Amino acid sequence: MADSKKNVLIIGGGAVGAIAALNLEAGGLAKVTIVLRSNYNVVKEQGYHIESCDHGVLKGWRPSIVRNTVPNITEEGLQPYDYVILVTKNIPDVSPTALDLASPALPKNSRLTTLILYQNGLNIEKPFVRAHPDVPVLSGISMIGSDEPSPGHIMHGEGEKLKVGAFPASNINPAVPERRAQEFVEIYGKSGKADVTYSPNVLYDRWRKLVFNACLNPICAITGLDTGRIRLADGTIEGLVRPAMKEVVAAAKACAGVELGDEIVQTMIDADPLESYLKPSMQQDLEKGNFIEFENLVGEPLREGKDAGVPMPTLEVVYQLAKAIQWRIKEKRGLVDIPKKRSADAS
Ligand SMILES: *[C@@H]1O[C@H](CO)[C@@H](O)[C@H](O)[C@H]1NC(C)=O
Repeated sequence: MADSKKNVLIIGGGAVGAIAALNLEAGGLAKVTIVLRSNYNVVKEQGYHIESCDHGVLKGWRPSIVRNTVPNITEEGLQPYDYVILVTKNIPDVSPTALDLASPALPKNSRLTTLILYQNGLNIEKPFVRAHPDVPVLSGISMIGSDEPSPGHIMHGEGEKLKVGAFPASNINPAVPERRAQEFVEIYGKSGKADVTYSPNVLYDRWRKLVFNACLNPICAITGLDTGRIRLADGTIEGLVRPAMKEVVAAAKACAGVELGDEIVQTMIDADPLESYLKPSMQQDLEKGNFIEFENLVGEPLREGKDAGVPMPTLEVVYQLAKAIQWRIKEKRGLVDIPKKRSADAS
């Protein structure tokens, strides 16, 4: 009998990608190739050490194929993958972009491969739809409590929730990506260990998550206050977080007809228990000296909202501050050249 397993390429094998690989292979309907960077040597030599609430403890586990480059399917003469899942961060203002990274693995003039984007934010599919108009693009929104405390060591402490659906707007008949999304839900759900569902309304899911990600996430990063302390701080919620969230709720309605309802603001402010003092992703990135994903999380909803005539004064300031912080990181990483400092006494 022919091998009926789907060939899946996962680009990015940190805390989220590794669990996706494990879950797909556990279901038995997929053969996974994973592309790693910083943890490549460790995983290649020793495999992953995974402690998972869903899959148990695995020592020395590896997906079917482990590699350290994204395959150029043309050059290597590989069959197109059935699914390519991009799990890396999405930082369009720093190269290589997500598009640069995934392009070698995507076929030209063929719909055989379905691309799934796991990144947060808005309009992340647009560069792919432009450059690869034949490739159906799906949205994967993953909520998972999982960390990589050291390279190749994955601590998965909280069950995974994954929503998969088709991005609107491409020149492909929408029935195609919708069917692929449903097929992927089946493949991913086969292990019985992940809560994966088909989402018919990707824009709703994305705008809803932006109420947190465009507001609380950057504001925690900028202020250095976690999601607990920011609620205890003098007036930061009322002065900054709530106004920004209300702007995003208004933009969702004006731009995408998405009705999030007024309660969403309080729900997102209280999303994490106060006493857990959780740091959102941008705050963590900043503390590690990494770039922040502010363009898709803050810039895109801001631009779309303003284009639709929604006043967004708070989000504008949050965006400009995030952009300034990103420039600071770029300077530290040697990505910008600045004029040499001269002494002030010119006389
Ligand atoms: C893949 O390899 C081919 C053949 O060497 C080359 O022409 C093409 O530019 C490469 N594709 C990408 C996206 O790098």
